Amino acid sequence: AATTRYEAEVSPATCDGTIDTNHTGFSGTGFCNGRNATGAALQFTVNASEAGTATLAFRYANGSGAARPADVAVNGTAAGSLTFAATSTWTAWTTQTLTVPVKAGSNTVRLSPTTASGLANIDALDA
Ligand code: GCU
Repeated sequence: AATTRYEAEVSPATCDGTIDTNHTGFSGTGFCNGRNATGAALQFTVNASEAGTATLAFRYANGSGAARPADVAVNGTAAGSLTFAATSTWTAWTTQTLTVPVKAGSNTVRLSPTTASGLANIDALDA
């Protein structure tokens, strides 16, 4: 099925940090640079045409040299986790995917970093 891109800088997405533009290669008008803190979350709202599962593809860059792991919650319920492994530089964007349960209509997808380094820089979510 066709996917929709949800930009991290576009409402109703919320970024606990800043929307930055200093590392090229992002889509839309910027990316979410979350605060470097455990739990400094980025939340998307994803529309699903029907209940079932959706594959979430998070586009990110992580030039820190170390993974930036995060828990993923859908509609407030734990749905898995992602490592956000290091990429070569902050301008090397790549994706990690996770398949999660969704309900028909609007779903919140929340990325919560599990270490004090916070999230990788997150550009967008395709779902
Ligand atoms: C650098 C980089 C930021 C990044 C930050 C971090 O400051 O320029 O884009 O978010 O490191 O480590 O989180």
